[in-house]
Amino acid sequence: MFGEQPADGVLPLVGYAPRLAPESLGDPAFRETHGLRYAYVGGAMANGISSVEMVEALARAGMLGFFGSAGMSLDRVEAAIERIQQSVGDRPHAFNLIHSPNEPRSEAEVVDLYLRRGVRLVSASAYLDLTLPLVRYRVSGVHRGPGGEIVTPNRVIAKVSRTEVARKFLSPPPADMLQQLVNENVITSEAAQLAARVPVAGDLTAEADSGGHTDNRPACTLIPTMLALADEIQAEHGYAERLRVGAAGGISTPESASAAFAMGAAYVLTGSVNQACVESGTSVAVREMLCKAREADITMAPAADMFEMGVKVQVLKWGTMFAVRARKLYDLYRTCASVEEIPESQRVVLERDLFRCTLAEAWAKTRAYFAVRDPTQIARAERDPKHRMALVFRAYLGQSSEWANSGDASRRADYQIWCGPSMGAFNEWVRGTFLESPEHRDVVTVGLNLLVGAAVATRAAWLRAYGVSLPAAARRFAPRPQAELAQLLGSA
Ligand SMILES: Cc1cc2nc3c(=O)[nH]c(=O)nc-3n(C[C@H](O)[C@H](O)[C@H](O)COP(=O)(O)O)c2cc1C
Repeated sequence: MFGEQPADGVLPLVGYAPRLAPESLGDPAFRETHGLRYAYVGGAMANGISSVEMVEALARAGMLGFFGSAGMSLDRVEAAIERIQQSVGDRPHAFNLIHSPNEPRSEAEVVDLYLRRGVRLVSASAYLDLTLPLVRYRVSGVHRGPGGEIVTPNRVIAKVSRTEVARKFLSPPPADMLQQLVNENVITSEAAQLAARVPVAGDLTAEADSGGHTDNRPACTLIPTMLALADEIQAEHGYAERLRVGAAGGISTPESASAAFAMGAAYVLTGSVNQACVESGTSVAVREMLCKAREADITMAPAADMFEMGVKVQVLKWGTMFAVRARKLYDLYRTCASVEEIPESQRVVLERDLFRCTLAEAWAKTRAYFAVRDPTQIARAERDPKHRMALVFRAYLGQSSEWANSGDASRRADYQIWCGPSMGAFNEWVRGTFLESPEHRDVVTVGLNLLVGAAVATRAAWLRAYGVSLPAAARRFAPRPQAELAQLLGSA
């Protein structure tokens, strides 16, 4: 017993840390609802960087993968859905539904596609407010089950970093949107009444400082704030299924995963670390660069999609000139009224180093692109020279991601690689182990090591609370190949 004087030759009991399986971390209801073995999610990464192979691998392991459909054509997204549904079947999987303020039509088309192909789970991201297509997805098919319970065939896991947006997702759909869907015969008025009693999203990922689009919020403040909000809204609405909050941003070590679960996260979601894995849709060149990144090798740079608004994305700054060049473009956009106003000395540099053609030729190529995709942009650009400049600059920013993903060696200095500080923290953790080299990194080995390591870190924290200070070798978990992990966990 604690505090008792042990018999001679018997060691005193100073603390107790029971077995903790990686399957036990997180909220059991999250795992059960989504049919998961682990409360672990591979986040969406645009342009298929979170690829079909990544979603398949995570599904086979009892983890949840989000396919990175943002930025892809409808045809390519449909092909991915077809393949994933065939290969994965009923195992957990989901697709990204990204808010596209510049292309509202495309968001509605993606929802049409998801509904038509029976996609049952989406990760909704980049929303600042709810949209009708998003609500249409969520409430389509809502009905009463045999026990009188409300059944929603389509589920939403929302990702947000602001409480005002979180509140909208955790609340039932707005009455005016439900009425509009009734008026458009999308749902019946009985179905609208049921939909008014469920949240838009039952799961909410609180996204702290991360790769790609980010508000750079600290996880230590964001997660408790979102948990408190979810509790408040749950108490207000008394939903049958309790709201859950997961954590993303900065999770890439046993300690960070353990801390997120300790704060009350229902699940953890990773992004940057998966981009460096073999299943990632990016190039070998980029994966090699990511594996060398250190924690501070990242910076904010202008975003292609919301360039004019000054929105930024977090990117790798090591080994590429992208961030410096993109910032130069944004400065010129702010200070010049048109491409013609760009000072001669600057124009020469842009044409030689960034565009590798004259700015007039760059506009001709951009114009040809929009002639197919969205001709209204051309009409606007011809009226407004500043908009023309924005389109040309955005074309460079958009291509810089493609050059990185395809590994275009002639454009290495222009690679735009979305990446958060989590990448460097991961590299530090795995330094000197088999996971140091890119060819050994696969999403399941990375995910399992994070979870097993989180269980070790959690148990070490329990012992610390008893006053037991473990040596580094006992509390720090070194990554191991999957076979060794299975042995360790006793299931080999
Ligand atoms: C290369 C890359 C692309 C991303 N693209 C998207 C995207 O298209 N949609 C999205 O919701 N989140 C996107 N994210 C964010 C991730 O889903 C995830 O939330 C984030 O990476 C978690 O933080 P971490 O980078 O610290 O792990 C992207 C992140 C990276 C690194």
